Amino acid sequence: MAQPLTMTSGPRSAGGTRTAFLELQRHCTAAIIAPRRALRLRMLLKLRLFWPATPVTADVPARRIRLAAYTTETITPKYHEALIGWQKKNFPELTFLQDNWKKYYPTQTPYQLFAKIGKLQSETIGYGRMAGQSRVERAGDMVGNMFYTARDIIRAQASTELGSIQQHRLTLEEAPTDVMKVAILRIMAEELRHGYQMFWVFDADHSWKKPGHPDVATDTLDELLSMQLGNHVLDAFNIPFYNFLDNVIFATLIDLVGKYQLEMQKVFSYAPMARSMGPMLSEEGYHIGSGRGFLKELSVSATNGNGRYSIDEIQRAINVWLPRGVEMFGNERGGETAIAFGFKDRTNGTVQSEYYNEVRELIELTNVAIAQTLLRDISAPDARSLVREVQDTHEEQRGIAPHHLLMVPDVKFYRQRGMEEIAFMPYDVDGILLTENGKPLSGERYIEYLKGVLPSYYVKDSEFAKYSAALLGRQPKVGSSYGW
Ligand SMILES: [Fe+2]
Ligand SMILES: [Fe+2]
Repeated sequence: MAQPLTMTSGPRSAGGTRTAFLELQRHCTAAIIAPRRALRLRMLLKLRLFWPATPVTADVPARRIRLAAYTTETITPKYHEALIGWQKKNFPELTFLQDNWKKYYPTQTPYQLFAKIGKLQSETIGYGRMAGQSRVERAGDMVGNMFYTARDIIRAQASTELGSIQQHRLTLEEAPTDVMKVAILRIMAEELRHGYQMFWVFDADHSWKKPGHPDVATDTLDELLSMQLGNHVLDAFNIPFYNFLDNVIFATLIDLVGKYQLEMQKVFSYAPMARSMGPMLSEEGYHIGSGRGFLKELSVSATNGNGRYSIDEIQRAINVWLPRGVEMFGNERGGETAIAFGFKDRTNGTVQSEYYNEVRELIELTNVAIAQTLLRDISAPDARSLVREVQDTHEEQRGIAPHHLLMVPDVKFYRQRGMEEIAFMPYDVDGILLTENGKPLSGERYIEYLKGVLPSYYVKDSEFAKYSAALLGRQPKVGSSYGW
């Protein structure tokens, strides 16, 4: 379906093909590209409970076709080869995906590893101290903290892309269906391309090497190539996957954080980073759409009693990942520096609450599917009202009890980063501070509580051990902020 359309010129002349592609944007993808379309989709979701289709489905109707123009570039052979070597070691299954691409995605452009350089929404900086000035084309023109903060954000972004491939691979073979397995393979392949894209940001701009300073670009790229689970920049990318539920919940909740980060970074004052966001966002839509579709599928199977996982197991996996997702936005009170440098358009607290509301919406849609499975004759709007009633009253209605449904833990639950009053404080899944004799629950007792709401395999492993040790004061607590 994708075919060369026009020749455009990109920011550099070296390297890649210079072709703009006509590409189908799935409706779930389109929702994250155009705010007005997103609003319309949200209204549709509200009015008709329209569910984004699972990824491998029929063609998108013609009226949904959008133009996505970008040029492509490759990076210098040294790092191109290094990333291919990284892929062979960390993601050898890529060849299977490439060999079977046509079978699963007959209408979609075959996968290729290159950087996609999109268009800027505006030539000028939109936010912060330099608002109204031209965007910065050369990293070397950023001074002081701005230079290193930009480096930290791009490095963190790259680390998430590579880390998630290492995580997905751990449990890939447990996929319940071929469609699910291939979707995860495609997500991994696209994350690799996103990693490549971030490499391009460092590699294509020689001014990252400032006279008299260390070579920031090559130092960072070499570091990224050596990162393993355990030393990635953000916590969520150091948690090993235990079963396929992790692949699904991660794509649903953690890729959604990625969507918000990329959306914000479209305003990035350093132009090469901003140009990278559009093409990455459109791919991210597939990841989120896959996660939601599979979550719904697994939840309906669980409700029918013929699924691999129970609703309780799905809930426990959500309880592991949601707190890490909300923490990825950084301290709720922070984010001003990134705005001052023109890197982002919203503070941490604002974007975190937007994210949290979207999670609630998508889990509610899953619950509507569960309710419709239990009560075959109920309409979607009625199912939504019923779900809300059951969850608000904590009482069974028409045979549907709270334990039949999924819930979104409160933002304060099981936190290890963020505001002082919530990090390492004993909040339960409903956001109520657990107390004993008028005092917050002791660390030991909170650990017991957590064991009752997190997966049994998870609480036996190193991630939970680290949290417990920090909570009990046996290890220093992690810091309150991140470099993303
Ligand atoms: Fe990504
Ligand atoms: Fe993703």
